[in-house]
Amino acid sequence: MEKVLVTGCAGYIGSVLMRLLLNKGYKVKGIDNLQFGGESLLGIYNNPNFEFLYGDIRDNQILDKVLKNVDHVVHLAAIVGDPACATEPDKAREVNWKASNNLFKMAKESDVDRFVFASTCSNYGKMDAGENNFVSEESPLRPVSLYAELKVKFEKYILASEKSDDLTPVSLRFATVYGLSSRPRFDLTVNDFTRQLQSGRELVIYGEQFWRPYCHVFDISRAILMTLQADKKIVAHQVFGVGSTAENYQKKMIVDELLEYFPAAKIKYVKKEEDPRDYRVDFSHIKNELGFKVTHTVPDGIREVKEVLDQGLISEPFSKKYRNV
Ligand SMILES: NC(=O)c1ccc[n+]([C@@H]2O[C@H](COP(=O)([O-])OP(=O)(O)OC[C@H]3O[C@@H](n4cnc5c(N)ncnc54)[C@H](O)[C@@H]3O)[C@@H](O)[C@H]2O)c1
Repeated sequence: MEKVLVTGCAGYIGSVLMRLLLNKGYKVKGIDNLQFGGESLLGIYNNPNFEFLYGDIRDNQILDKVLKNVDHVVHLAAIVGDPACATEPDKAREVNWKASNNLFKMAKESDVDRFVFASTCSNYGKMDAGENNFVSEESPLRPVSLYAELKVKFEKYILASEKSDDLTPVSLRFATVYGLSSRPRFDLTVNDFTRQLQSGRELVIYGEQFWRPYCHVFDISRAILMTLQADKKIVAHQVFGVGSTAENYQKKMIVDELLEYFPAAKIKYVKKEEDPRDYRVDFSHIKNELGFKVTHTVPDGIREVKEVLDQGLISEPFSKKYRNV
């Protein structure tokens, strides 16, 4: 049975990924410093194939301990998002660059086979008008925030590492994620817009014309699993965008989907000419190489978030714990 170490295992993506890996027969080890609590792991805590270690990835002694007897590493732990990195820039540099760097070096020295890194489509920044309106893995990267700068820097670093039969690095550039997780996040566009309207608040949209790609948290986890299972030759030193070309939306298009569920919604559009994060992504690479296809769409995400809120499964959706800042 292969053993996977997941850093940031208690997070929004991590807590979904852990369950998927356990269901697929992996042994999983997770490390997290529980910035947003650890309740997301309670449902799997007693699973004999799950091992949790509380700790901070900035601590090399902890890294040494968690890297023992691990076949693969999925590196999710980070200060996540532009606002969180802007609020704590020194911590962001320590975690997203320095500690990540140490983790990679130490994984290389242990017997780890694959190192899957959670990168982001934010790396593209603003797309050029001349880029045929789609960006992909070959497009220039123009990070416009500290968060994206550090993701680009670490991604470049692992991909430039020496090619060998030992550690295989892979970088996955996730689309903006949505949908339900044991650690809900309501600071992500689809989840946030749905929550606002479900609570009867007015939804204020800044720059309805800007494009972004979106992907469900379960599909993100499936893509990670497929990366672990794929032929090593296909994924080694590769970057894959994770999403679907059909799931690029302008904010206005998301609002149109929301109106299907909330016909009486109050929407206010605020004109915004510039947004550094305006991009449409072509996800052919992961589809062609790994056969990855999404199983959820943005309307599915809206429906599921609305349903759990309607049924009261999350009692205080506006609580600070569901935001990363
Ligand atoms: N959610 C998205 O839309 C999205 C999009 C693109 C990329 N990503 C990337 O995916 C990864 C996971 O994102 P998420 O949405 O699950 O975020 P999250 O904030 O919910 O999860 C991150 C987890 O990492 C943990 N963590 C943070 N610093 C740590 C440290 N120093 N030591 C140990 N644990 C630490 C936190 O406690 C948290 O549980 C991140 O690397 C993020 O940059 C997310």
